[in-house]
Amino acid sequence: MPQSKRKAKSGTKPKEKEITLSVIKADVGGFVGHATMHPALMKVAERGLQTAKKSKLLVDFRVAHCGDDLELIMTHREGVESEEIHKMAWDIFMAGTRKAQQLKLYAAGQDMLADSFSGNIKGLGPGCAEMSFVERKSEPVIIFMADKTSPGAYNLPLFRIFGDPFNTAGLVIDPSMHGGFTFLVLDVLENTEVRLSCPEEMYDLLVFLGAPSRYMVHSVYRKSDGEIGATASTQRLNLMAGRYVGKDDPVLIIRTQSGFPAVGEALEGFAFPHLVEGWMRGSHHGPLMPVSSKDAQPTRFDGPPRVIAHGFQLNNGSLEGPVDFFGDPSFDLTRQKANEIAEYMRRHGPFEPHRLPLSEMEYTTLPQVKNKLEGRFKKLQD
Ligand code: 13P
Ligand code: 13P
Ligand code: MG
Ligand code: MG
Repeated sequence: MPQSKRKAKSGTKPKEKEITLSVIKADVGGFVGHATMHPALMKVAERGLQTAKKSKLLVDFRVAHCGDDLELIMTHREGVESEEIHKMAWDIFMAGTRKAQQLKLYAAGQDMLADSFSGNIKGLGPGCAEMSFVERKSEPVIIFMADKTSPGAYNLPLFRIFGDPFNTAGLVIDPSMHGGFTFLVLDVLENTEVRLSCPEEMYDLLVFLGAPSRYMVHSVYRKSDGEIGATASTQRLNLMAGRYVGKDDPVLIIRTQSGFPAVGEALEGFAFPHLVEGWMRGSHHGPLMPVSSKDAQPTRFDGPPRVIAHGFQLNNGSLEGPVDFFGDPSFDLTRQKANEIAEYMRRHGPFEPHRLPLSEMEYTTLPQVKNKLEGRFKKLQD
């Protein structure tokens, strides 16, 4: 259906015409250590998704990895939070875990924190970003996948892409985006969400987005018609098996062009290698380095954190692609800068702000050390 016709009706979209794009990911075992993905795990995922496509549960799929995270990119007609889709992804990750155990890969089943599947994969360990929409006449999308970081890492790029006219020219010159975008932000500690409208509430929005360990963008909507433009694997924090579930190595989907940021405007949001959390033992800050898929193998001090971008044209749900965007040499300077920042941060060794503040660390020896030194902390006179 031509977009103009669909828009004219506005509001209620014919549900049966919607396509759902789901990206579900998990670390089911690292090769070697936490560096990258064993080809055997990619094969397990390919086989599982091929079976689901044959059975018509999926329209199409791609398997990717960013570092040690296995990424299932899927299109289907089941809608978001479909139990059937989530269960199928869970079963694939469990099969991957068994393969990782056989191969004695590192931390096999790392993100599989529940004993069995129960209804929705969110909260069980894997990360999940999904959106449903009526496919436009041409539907270019970008899937961003990151390793050694957390969903808060997308706050700065998402603000740039959907809120900052110095990044996104379309906010100024494209009539269909000029009204701006609404950001849905989660407070992952208090488990609340708030919608903030840009540009009117930009300064309020930045109070929260600038604190990305607690406030994280979940989704972004176009104000003129409420269409979804972006969604990330941001979810409320659940403490499970001693780890915060869903904090790890996030994915992000962005729709582009024709009323959304251009492909190049979306990618431009990653041209500055800002500091993110999640490097080495999930407990250090480092620069987010955009790289090609083949370079998504974080190595120096298990990093620095990486992000890859796979572009697809949807074709009635089929995935035409990927185009491996960050392989482009125009990101060389970003990478060079990221390496300089990585070197600078590394020189801090165990000192903040390279090391995360005590409250944010995935690993900590603080309780043991405090116990050991009990009695040696002398109360000072007031
Ligand atoms: P083309 O003229 O190559 O279609 O590019 C349009 C555009 O807006 C790119 O940002
Ligand atoms: P992942 O979260 O990518 O498994 O990395 C864990 C880690 O601690 C690397 O140093
Ligand atoms: Mg790992
Ligand atoms: Mg990882």
